[in-house]
Amino acid sequence: MHFHNAVAASSFAALASAACTREFLQTATDQYLAAQTKGSSSDLAEIAVSNVTYTENEVKMGLDRSVLTEPIKMDHNRSIFDTVQCATFTEIIAATNIHQYVIGTRMEFNADNKISKIESIVTDRGDWAFNATGYSYWNSLETWDPIPAEEQDSREVIQAAGDAYFDRFKNESVVVPFGIPCSRLEGGASTAPLNMTGDSCTAAGLPSTLVVTNRRYVVDQEMGVVDIFLGFPGLDRSQGMDTMPDSHMFRVEGGDIRYIHTVSSCVQAGCGMNGVGPPQKVRSLPAAWKPRIPVRYDTAAKRRGGGY
Ligand SMILES: *[C@@H]1O[C@H](CO)[C@@H](O)[C@H](O)[C@H]1NC(C)=O
Ligand SMILES: *[C@@H]1O[C@H](CO)[C@@H](O)[C@H](O)[C@H]1NC(C)=O
Ligand SMILES: *[C@@H]1O[C@H](CO)[C@@H](O)[C@H](O)[C@H]1NC(C)=O
Ligand SMILES: *[C@@H]1O[C@H](CO)[C@@H](O)[C@H](O)[C@H]1NC(C)=O
Ligand SMILES: *[C@@H]1O[C@H](CO)[C@@H](O)[C@H](O)[C@H]1NC(C)=O
Repeated sequence: MHFHNAVAASSFAALASAACTREFLQTATDQYLAAQTKGSSSDLAEIAVSNVTYTENEVKMGLDRSVLTEPIKMDHNRSIFDTVQCATFTEIIAATNIHQYVIGTRMEFNADNKISKIESIVTDRGDWAFNATGYSYWNSLETWDPIPAEEQDSREVIQAAGDAYFDRFKNESVVVPFGIPCSRLEGGASTAPLNMTGDSCTAAGLPSTLVVTNRRYVVDQEMGVVDIFLGFPGLDRSQGMDTMPDSHMFRVEGGDIRYIHTVSSCVQAGCGMNGVGPPQKVRSLPAAWKPRIPVRYDTAAKRRGGGY
């Protein structure tokens, strides 16, 4: 009798899905950051399913070919935890690393608390408005503390603020709940100087003819943050209306947008702007700096259908 109970209990434990808590997700993002710091993709593979889907700037590849094989010294990291969808988003700024990066990574977990999907936007010199020093500077002036329980917005309100922003891209009548103050930090350039105490998000202007595609959300109610991965058409002027890999992270307070952080990947250095407009050219680079292999142009990968 005891024997049968023990068998029943252990098979129940095996079938029941592990709880997706903030603590669990925090531990997982800590492991992700440790793996990236070390440049040890296998450390991350250990907490992922064996057939984990990994993409970098929307190109599918093996973790062993990824940026995770490169040790990166980070100046800043911030993670948000979605315990409902069991997913995370992490922002990394590496401004004092020999090769500067700003990276945005979302991870999804399965019922066994293993990573089932990792999508990363890895930006460096030549990507949209890229300036890791600027990203680090403007970020250091911001406050992203947890929001007291009684002041937290619902998941729906937080997500709706981010959705309104992108719905406005194709419909000028959509009212985006920009707060006062509000600022947007993209690549390393901030709208804040347009109005340091007011709403510089409206002042910066928005498109009105673009349909963004494939929105993927991570929502953290305690932090008042939604991150949206999406396809951004027209961002790279050399690519027509092809959608570019993009992440926008919105900090929402009392239903209003306080900060927006973007990470956007270009196909051509400077996003086809010929040095005119947001993407900045960096003129002097440390001797040891090496360009990251532009995977979108890896013709061998293309012949293989993009996968490794
Ligand atoms: C990975 O393997 C699991 C279990 O065999 C399967 O359910 C899942 O669909 C696979 N995922 C991919 C992306 O192939
Ligand atoms: C990530 O940021 C936290 C502080 O927010 C810091 O304690 C931790 O050391 C950072 N991790 C890495 C790998 O830099
Ligand atoms: C990058 O940002 C830093 C800090 O805001 C600024 O001093 C620098 O001029 C910026 N670089 C470029 C190329 O815009
Ligand atoms: C544009 O947005 C307004 C305000 O939300 C809405 O009433 C209208 O139906 C939208 N138009 C289209 C074509 O979606
Ligand atoms: C800055 O924002 C405040 C509050 O939104 C507004 O009252 C003020 O007119 C703005 N200043 C400028 C120069 O746009």
